[in-house]
Amino acid sequence: MNDLLSSPFLRELKVSVADHRFSQTYPFNIPAIRNLQSLKFHPKVTYIVGENGMGKSTLLEAIAIASGFNPEGGTRNFQFATRETHSILHEHIRLVRGGAKPRDGFFFRAESYYNVASYIDILDEEQNPYNPPLKNSYGGKSLHEQSHGESFFSAFLNRFGGYGLYILDEPEAALSPIRQMSMLARIHELVKRNSQLIISTHSPILMAYPDSVIYQLNDHGIETVTLEETDHYVIMKQFMNHKESMLSELFYDE
Ligand SMILES: Nc1ncnc2c1ncn2[C@@H]1O[C@H](COP(=O)(O)OP(=O)(O)O)[C@@H](O)[C@H]1O
Ligand SMILES: [Mg+2]
Repeated sequence: MNDLLSSPFLRELKVSVADHRFSQTYPFNIPAIRNLQSLKFHPKVTYIVGENGMGKSTLLEAIAIASGFNPEGGTRNFQFATRETHSILHEHIRLVRGGAKPRDGFFFRAESYYNVASYIDILDEEQNPYNPPLKNSYGGKSLHEQSHGESFFSAFLNRFGGYGLYILDEPEAALSPIRQMSMLARIHELVKRNSQLIISTHSPILMAYPDSVIYQLNDHGIETVTLEETDHYVIMKQFMNHKESMLSELFYDE
């Protein structure tokens, strides 16, 4: 068990140097991607943060595909495609793996969770009626019959079992602050069960897992920051502490 802890599933990402690096088209037109050479994963939690459009989803998707996940999300067994819009970045990265293989895994992306929910419904319709339905692992109800927040949260609580690699793209999208804190507690449980998580998030609450590294993508590249140094934390704090002056600045018209 302890050697699992000291040898994470994913240690590092390396970008192969190729002419593509100098291409002006997606995904190499994104500064953080163009300037990326390697990225070391934390054995427990790695956060990818930054402004909208900085390349977080592009990076997470490439890591997920290179790890064997479906580009649209789900477990490694999910093989469906409703669209083919993923970037070619996964072809240009190499993942340095640790000693152990994950026994569980999930790629969650808020953007296409709807398609994952549909796929689970289809699998359950086709399933042998004597086997328990898949939806039992996701809270017992079709994910379409639960709210977005509820359905993701039930997957996170019920479906993720530990010893896993979990790649989550903006999992807070529909979660209340209390649920985001519950999610932190769940992250801690999963970490204690030898899991590794890679999480892209805008939520300063969700970024607060102490045993972690935070990479912030910006217009120039990728920097390592503390929670208190992230733009998200600074701006949120400023807003909470100086709401009136920030509002008057926002609503100021000449
Ligand atoms: N399939 C695509 N084709 C072309 N450009 C894309 C595609 N997906 C995203 N982009 C562009 O790449 C940039 C980074 O997108 P994304 O990785 O989704 O950013 P983030 O997740 O940080 O908000 C954005 O400017 C976006 O418009
Ligand atoms: Mg995104």
